[in-house]
Amino acid sequence: MLDVDQILADPGVRIVVCCGAGGVGKTTTAAALALRAAERHGRRTVVLTIDPARRLAQSLGLTELDNTPRRVKGIDVEAGGGELHAMMLDMKRTFDDVVLQHTDPAKAAEIFANPFYQAMSSTFAGTQEYMAMEKLGQLHARGEWDLIVVDTPPSRSALDFLDAPARLSRFLDGRMLRLLLAPARSGGRSMFSFVTASFGMFSRVVQKVLGAQLLTDLSGFVAALDSMFGGFRQRAEQTYQILQAGETAFLLVATPEPDAVREAAYFAGRLGEERMPLAGLVLNRVHRPAVTLGAVESRAAADRLAGLGGHDATVDVLRAHAALAQQAVREEQVAQRFTEAFPAVPTVSVTAQPADVHDVDGLRTIGAAISRS
Ligand SMILES: Nc1ncnc2c1ncn2[C@@H]1O[C@H](COP(=O)(O)OP(=O)(O)OP(=O)(O)O)[C@@H](O)[C@H]1O
Ligand SMILES: [Mg+2]
Repeated sequence: MLDVDQILADPGVRIVVCCGAGGVGKTTTAAALALRAAERHGRRTVVLTIDPARRLAQSLGLTELDNTPRRVKGIDVEAGGGELHAMMLDMKRTFDDVVLQHTDPAKAAEIFANPFYQAMSSTFAGTQEYMAMEKLGQLHARGEWDLIVVDTPPSRSALDFLDAPARLSRFLDGRMLRLLLAPARSGGRSMFSFVTASFGMFSRVVQKVLGAQLLTDLSGFVAALDSMFGGFRQRAEQTYQILQAGETAFLLVATPEPDAVREAAYFAGRLGEERMPLAGLVLNRVHRPAVTLGAVESRAAADRLAGLGGHDATVDVLRAHAALAQQAVREEQVAQRFTEAFPAVPTVSVTAQPADVHDVDGLRTIGAAISRS
């Protein structure tokens, strides 16, 4: 079984990345683990959250998107000397910061004013993933944290987190943009169709925003960014290397549903290929009956009781229990698909809570459930 406390307590582990399909509990898990690392293991911890639910953000003291870690107050860290800091990723600001670091203020102002940049820094599919990586790189480089817990964006596919930086830096690569520009320079319209085909939604936004201005802006953008391409790529590569290092632990999060488990399995395979350290699978929101009365038994008991003429609350309870027991069996079967494919990857189950997790107490409960204590 996955021993999360061992990971959180290990001074050699400096980064925990929570990955998984959309809506499985990545943000909740990341926040719960960070809280536990600070409270139980006395570590100076920062959690990088991405689009947390409003109430969760509020309970962590995050009221605005200011792109820097803020200390979470009112948690139980006195005895252990740990600290919890939390932040929400602001992808546009992170992108702006990268630009500022790579160029002089005048050039930067030019880039910021460019509508092409504005569209890309806020709507490009993959920008959020790329900027999450970028922010992780920044937090890591500052060297002031014992532990950085990273939440990943609500992508359709968990793999987007690993793929987006490469995709974006390929896009930012001059060759790609020059290719886009080439037919336009010779007066053709083919660039639009090419852009549309390649970038879908993004290009529709660009076209709407820019119209005829596009070509001028795009060449200006290319010229301005040209000097930074190397920097972008190099940083993405550096962060990739950090993710491959022994100080990183990936935790996959999945709900016991076929799609989420399949996604987790893809991701596990990919981490293996990338030689990135997978620590384990958190199976979140599982249903577990409190008593060991099987579905068949409790349904039989309900039927017998109903047959005796009594349609009372007990019959309903037994039937509800039967449904829950059956769901638990189904969930176990789904989870088994993962463990059969990756027998060496330890897992732990977290029970579905009766309500959403949006406060510190709720996070503590999740942390305790993940750690089995
Ligand atoms: N064990 C649990 N029991 C009950 N509710 C849970 C549990 N884990 C998470 N939730 C709830 O499920 C919802 C989704 O969780 P969360 O936001 O952490 O998922 P996510 O993977 O980050 O989603 P997204 O992909 O959209 O970012 C939240 O409302 C959260 O409170
Ligand atoms: Mg989330």
